[in-house]
Amino acid sequence: MSDASKAGTFRLGDRTVNRMGYGAMQLAGPGVFGPPKDPKAALAVLREALALGVNHIDTSDFYGPHVTNQLIREALHPYADNLTLVTKVGASRGDDASWNPALSPAELTQAVHDNLRNLGLDVLDVVNLRAWGTMHAPGEESIEQAFTTLAELQRQGLIRHLGLSNVSAAQVKEAQGIAEVICVQNHYNLSHRRDEPLIAELGKQGIAYVPFFPLGGFTPLQSDALASVAQRLKASQLKVALAWLLQRAPNILLIPGTSSVAHLRENLTASVLKIAPGLLAELDAVA
Ligand SMILES: NC(=O)c1ccc[n+]([C@@H]2O[C@H](COP(=O)([O-])OP(=O)(O)OC[C@H]3O[C@@H](n4cnc5c(N)ncnc54)[C@H](OP(=O)(O)O)[C@@H]3O)[C@@H](O)[C@H]2O)c1
Repeated sequence: MSDASKAGTFRLGDRTVNRMGYGAMQLAGPGVFGPPKDPKAALAVLREALALGVNHIDTSDFYGPHVTNQLIREALHPYADNLTLVTKVGASRGDDASWNPALSPAELTQAVHDNLRNLGLDVLDVVNLRAWGTMHAPGEESIEQAFTTLAELQRQGLIRHLGLSNVSAAQVKEAQGIAEVICVQNHYNLSHRRDEPLIAELGKQGIAYVPFFPLGGFTPLQSDALASVAQRLKASQLKVALAWLLQRAPNILLIPGTSSVAHLRENLTASVLKIAPGLLAELDAVA
């Protein structure tokens, strides 16, 4: 059995995906702004991910911009039947690499068409609406207009399933009044735990929770407890951080990001790292 399939599966809309997936953002290049330093290395990471059983890849057309999706298309098109590509819309990039909200109906519609073109698809598997309370934390603004726009594009047949990113529990409820939500992608990891009530609530509803920055993002996770547990498990700290997420809740799906084949291989082996209850309790206490 491949590494990515060893952590079990989860139902994502009409697809079944391995709980261990891959986040493609790091492929775009430094600052998530293209071009990548080594495009061939980026293609190799994507192909190795598939070879090791990854069947859930997270992306966006605003990574690069366009670069990550174009790499995915070059490396993997025509896509395997069991591959689920999850993209997100709601942001644009400035010429200075800045990240800007892009949530008007015209911008969202354009973004869906950009994703279709750059990924080489007629229908997108899953599109997350990326909300913008702040850069990495949700606010309480209404997302009704934006989510209604995506629901209309779904009715037109351009999107199979809808999800949300960077949202509060109230925004999830608001969106569910408009269309079905199959996944939520928010900031969560060993030392950033604000979403625990939301993860539990989504779990009761059978909705996937997909943490972004599972390894700490641009600032890798660091904690004495994590270092100590990792030493006793004879594993790297980041691998332990991923295994902890897998054991935290059954509706958590992982999309760790890397631009390195070696890191990819190491991260996928977290699928088989079992952390015993005593050590889990030490990690639970980190936050
Ligand atoms: N919805 C949102 O707003 C949002 C925001 C951020 C990210 N995301 C998604 O979430 C995914 C994951 O987030 P992320 O990539 O930002 O952060 P992450 O997975 O927490 O961490 C990625 C960082 O860790 C490094 N890394 C990965 N594996 C490693 C290993 N085994 N040893 C040492 N360093 C390692 C990577 O560098 P190397 O490249 O050198 O391995 C990179 O700098 C992204 O790919 C993206 O798809 C979504």
